[in-house]
Amino acid sequence: MSFPMLVLNARDAGRMGALHMRCFSDPWSAVSFRGLLLDSSIVSLGIEMGGELAAFVQAQTVAGEADILTIATGPEFRRRGLGTMLIRGLISRLGERGISRLTLEVAEDNGAARALYEAVGFTEDGRRPRYYTSGRELPADAVLMSMDLGLSQM
Ligand SMILES: CC(C)(COP(=O)(O)OP(=O)(O)OC[C@H]1O[C@@H](n2cnc3c(N)ncnc32)[C@H](O)[C@@H]1OP(=O)(O)O)[C@@H](O)C(=O)NCCC(=O)NCCS
Repeated sequence: MSFPMLVLNARDAGRMGALHMRCFSDPWSAVSFRGLLLDSSIVSLGIEMGGELAAFVQAQTVAGEADILTIATGPEFRRRGLGTMLIRGLISRLGERGISRLTLEVAEDNGAARALYEAVGFTEDGRRPRYYTSGRELPADAVLMSMDLGLSQM
């Protein structure tokens, strides 16, 4: 099943902040999201279910490439393909902007996100050792991943 994808705007900052808070131990504020939503280099896509913001992704475009800043699916909406749909939608929009490469970084202990990224075609480029410390007893490496959009299987 597919759901309509929304291009998010500054009016969505509050509900993005609320959803982020439910998905991360170190969430970004609605004020931070508002700033990002007003930045023309940022692409922000969301999916609503039952009128509620169920999932969203944000990426920043710089010099012909893009980097995923954050992606979140509400806990009650996970494993329904929303994260996959958002990344596919993002790739499609980035392609329209002539973006050739999409990058991201993910904590090595975030199994769900790494499985999602591998499933949609990202590959590992390298690591930043002990990069993530928040909410952990021991630091976790950042895994750097990328996808050449010309080669994506979307
Ligand atoms: C990571 C996240 C965005 C995935 O969203 P989602 O909407 O559940 O993703 P999808 O339903 O599209 O999952 C696609 C595939 O990813 C993999 N996957 C997703 N969650 C998984 C999990 N908990 N365990 C194992 N594999 C998982 C599976 O291969 C899945 O396909 P399947 O359900 O057919 O097996 C979501 O778990 C989340 O918001 N986590 C908290 C925030 C976060 O960590 N964001 C990423 C920061 S880098």
